[in-house]
This record gives sequence, C-alpha cells and structure tokens, in this order.
Amino acid sequence: MKAPIKRTLIVGNWKMHLNVSQSSLLVQRLHKHVAGHRDIEVVIAPSMLTLQPLSLQIDRRRFRLAAQNANAQDEGALTGEVSFSMLRNIVHYVIIGHSERRIYFKESYKDVQEKVGASIRNGITPIICVGETAGEHKAGETNQILHDQVTSALGNLTLEEVKSVVIAYEPVWAISNFGGTLAKPDSIGKSIKYIRRQIEALYGEEASQEVRILYGGSVNEDIAAGYLSIDGCDGLLIGGASLNYHKFSGIIDAAYRNNRTQ
Ligand code: PGA
Repeated sequence: MKAPIKRTLIVGNWKMHLNVSQSSLLVQRLHKHVAGHRDIEVVIAPSMLTLQPLSLQIDRRRFRLAAQNANAQDEGALTGEVSFSMLRNIVHYVIIGHSERRIYFKESYKDVQEKVGASIRNGITPIICVGETAGEHKAGETNQILHDQVTSALGNLTLEEVKSVVIAYEPVWAISNFGGTLAKPDSIGKSIKYIRRQIEALYGEEASQEVRILYGGSVNEDIAAGYLSIDGCDGLLIGGASLNYHKFSGIIDAAYRNNRTQ
C-alpha cells in the first residue's frame, strides 16, 4: 500500500514553564522564523493559562496550539479543572498520557482512555504519549507496555477516529526530566514499527499508515534530523529544547530540510 502523505508535526511542550508574557515574547520571536509551510505543522503547548491569549496572538497558518491536559468530563463540580469542551476552538491538539502525568499524577490507562474519548468528542486531536520506563526497558518489556498503552488508549474509538489520532513514542528514560539517556534511532524505529503493527492488527493497514507517530525524548537541534529520518517517524514532541528560541527554531529548520530531501 502506498504511504499516505502526512504533514510533519513539530510539537513544543512547554510544561509548567514560561508565564503569559514570556510565552508571548517567545511566540513573537518564533513568528519571524516560522514560515507557513504546507508540509510542516508547528504546534505549541503552553500552560493552560496562556492558551487563550496565545490563541489571539498566533497566526494560525504558522502555528497551532495544544493543551497539555484536560478533564474528561465536559462540566461539573471539579474545582481547579478545565474540560476539553472549554478548549474547543482554542486548541487543535491535546497531549494525553504524558509520562509526567502517568507518574506524578497517577493517571491510569482508564483515565487516558477517557481523555482520548473526550478530546475526540470535542473535536480536538489527541497526541497520546506512550513509552516504557527504564526498568521496563531493561526487563525487555517494551513491546508489552506499548501494546497495552496503545490498545487501551484507542479502545473506545471507531476506525475513522483511530485514523485521526497522533501517538508520541516517548521512552520515559529518554525524557530529560527522567534521566535523558539518548535513544538510538534504530531502536526508536523498531518501537514505531511495533506500534504500527499493533494498530494494523486491530484496525487494518490503512489506519496503521494514517496514524501519525512522533518521537519524543531529549531531542535538540543537533540530533533532530537523525530522528526525523527514521522510517515511519512523522515528527517530534520536544520538551526542554522548545523553551529556547535558537534550539526550537533549529529543530524546525531540521524538519524543513528533512522534508525537502524526501
Ligand atoms: P524533553 O521532554 O525533550 O525535555 O526530554 C520531552 C517530553 O517530555 O515530551
């Protein structure tokens, strides 16, 4: 089957960094650098507080916004929470199941599944993070973990919904916050292939080709090109380096160059 044409996704996860004015300044600088590009989507995931002002500031031909989390219920007496329905028309994407949320906030497979359902119900594309811990990696359990995380996250979706999701493979041990060991592109390639095989087994070949799969974990401007050229890798989810103008623009440049050489 001929591989579908997909836009490369470059997602900057700003985590709990940058206040509203710092975010606005960084976006202003990035605007000058990021050209509207047919084949590349640059997505910024700032803090919840910053989404609304940035949604008014950004040129949507150049940037899209992602939330880093939301509550699976559309409304309710849930002090401190923000729902996916409140994020409609503000964000295009939402990051779900990031390892920091699974580990620090004890998000279960069921929580992730419900959030994926709520995001789709509200017209927001989920970026579902999956990946094994260092212990699971050492114990040879990577494929089992990927299988369980992927199948449960997609469990309640229709075939058409599955085709629209984004999956980010982020081995926990490669994320800078959890050690930041550099992952070898060939082992990342194997895991991406494994994820596609799971989707193919459950939803067929077309779905497995259409789902975009990103890599995330300590990517910087020097090594971005190596990860982007992995077969089946459709983009990057970047943490620390996306907070720095030079590093983030270097990664975006690497994506432009990679697309030109394809
Ligand atoms: P990092 O974070 O690039 O700082 O390792 C990646 C992530 O948490 O998505």
